[in-house]
Amino acid sequence: MKIYHTTKRLQEILHVTPIETSIGFIPTMGALHEGHISLVERALKENTVVVVSIFVNPTQFDNEGDLSKYPRTLEEDSKLLSQTSQDIIIFAPTPAEVYGTAIKSKKYDFGKLANEMEGKHRKGHFDGVGTVLNHLFRIIEPDRAYFGEKDFQQLQIVKKLVVLENLPVTIVGCPILRETDGLAMSSRNKRLTVEQRENAVFISEILKITQQQFQEKTIEELTQFAENTFAENKHLDLEYFEIANIKNLKTAKKKKEGKKYRAFIAAFAGEVRLIDNLALN
Ligand code: PAJ
Repeated sequence: MKIYHTTKRLQEILHVTPIETSIGFIPTMGALHEGHISLVERALKENTVVVVSIFVNPTQFDNEGDLSKYPRTLEEDSKLLSQTSQDIIIFAPTPAEVYGTAIKSKKYDFGKLANEMEGKHRKGHFDGVGTVLNHLFRIIEPDRAYFGEKDFQQLQIVKKLVVLENLPVTIVGCPILRETDGLAMSSRNKRLTVEQRENAVFISEILKITQQQFQEKTIEELTQFAENTFAENKHLDLEYFEIANIKNLKTAKKKKEGKKYRAFIAAFAGEVRLIDNLALN
């Protein structure tokens, strides 16, 4: 395993590899956990070279506190990555290395997709995600890039980004890895107190109940149930509960024959914002 901090050094090594090499890329913001590792292992199966970027991207945070408190654990991250089944390359650049002197987002037209859920509640978030990925894709030139369904809306945005930017990369979506009690693995879980951690499982429990009752209840009933149950929980603050069509992520009012739906939750445990989602049918 090798860590590169500059684009120049990384490109030197990527460009000397043989022509038949295929590059798999996993962009991350570090504080790695088994969820990230599952993407790395998938990429190792499908590519000859695997690059993991570790970069806390300033332009995708709408809250200075959230950015400054985001865990930065490069040493532990590299230890975890050194335990993967094969050798990988880590790219851990500085903001200047990625952005040059202008650390700002490009404005993208992701259409209506960007106005729902995360786009609605975190202004400019997807422009920041799109901008950093555009830079990273151009530096690394991967054949395939791997993203978790944990950030389901981000995955759809990235598929749109590669069309808008005309980038020759295949976007691969991967399932959500969960702790044994059901909580979706997340770098932010490290910031939870013991009490918050115990209560955070409530998010995946509500999603599971929604999934179990999806056939017999209406979307309105399921939404009411979720919102009321959250209102009674003093440890979590619900930001949104949405049932959406997986194609356009528009909030669904009524179930329609032949359409696929997912339930999405964003909730705060104290200052820590957690998100999760689950396929309903
Ligand atoms: P980060 O939150 O570090 O996540 C990196 C990748 O890991 C994302 O594709 C995310 O969906 C995936 N991931 C996170 N938790 C997961 C879990 N429990 N199971 C499966 N996959 C999981 O998402 C970002 O970083 C950033 O927005 C980034 C794409 C790197 C751009 O800055």
